[in-house]
Amino acid sequence: MELLRANNLSKTYHTERGWLAAKLPPVQAVSQVNLSLAPGENLGLVGESGCGKSTLARLLMGLEKPSSGQVFYRNMEFTYWKQRQMQSIRGKVQMIFQNSLAAFNPLFTIEQIVDEPLRNYGWNNHKARQSRVVETLERVGLGSGYLKRLPHELSGGQLQRVGIARAIALQPELVICDEPFSSLDMTLRKQMIDLLQELKRELSLAYVFITHDLSIVHRLCDSVAVMYQGEIIEKLSGADLLLDAKHSYTRTLVASVPIQDPRQRETFNYM
Ligand SMILES: Nc1ncnc2c1ncn2[C@@H]1O[C@H](COP(=O)(O)OP(=O)(O)OP(=O)(O)O)[C@@H](O)[C@H]1O
Ligand SMILES: [Mg+2]
Repeated sequence: MELLRANNLSKTYHTERGWLAAKLPPVQAVSQVNLSLAPGENLGLVGESGCGKSTLARLLMGLEKPSSGQVFYRNMEFTYWKQRQMQSIRGKVQMIFQNSLAAFNPLFTIEQIVDEPLRNYGWNNHKARQSRVVETLERVGLGSGYLKRLPHELSGGQLQRVGIARAIALQPELVICDEPFSSLDMTLRKQMIDLLQELKRELSLAYVFITHDLSIVHRLCDSVAVMYQGEIIEKLSGADLLLDAKHSYTRTLVASVPIQDPRQRETFNYM
């Protein structure tokens, strides 16, 4: 059974603020997107800035309603569900954001941040919650020494680990990652990808991985969808992306990957 499916999903934003409203044309952020994801599958979503990746992620998460189209979780349509109904699948689909510092409540301790989804989704036993929080933080490489710290007291890499902990605390089936490591240096990025791969093995997770970094797609993803101006213009298997890209936009994207090892450059110069 498919884990997630999108049928002809579209989202148009109409700006209605102030006297400019009449003059601004609507923005078609996502246009007629069809997607499906199997349990345990890793799907990469790439495309230039502003092409609609984050909007699509919010639609798939049910955080925003589409203008048209449908979204399904395990064959259950949740397109127009109210927040309360969404709770039944929220625990199963989680998200990691690009900038955790902005996504977290700055007054919450790390313990409260990781505890919040557990509290929201029916974990009433305080002791059980506490041990799940500690266990999850340890799982992402942060000991219990971080429990009482505030977000601004952590480094970028540590914050992203907290973001991962918060996303996996409820043991979801799918994690949507919206450029989670773009602010980290290469060494940290590699550590985080290793961590996501470990978690995938342990929890049988599926990922939708939004990124500009095609080397991440190559390492982590079974397939990749290329987005351009709101549409998915090409779908390829992860390994084929570098060799099989048909669309000129995808080829430009591949050509822009910096290759550090000169011996590998030839493989990328096929275009
Ligand atoms: N709430 C909103 N109201 C109006 N327009 C929006 C809103 N959210 C996004 N947009 C517009 O929709 C388009 C797609 O934005 P989106 O954030 O999904 O792009 P993105 O692919 O995630 O870009 P980036 O790679 O820079 O994060 C953009 O033109 C953006 O300005
Ligand atoms: Mg975005």
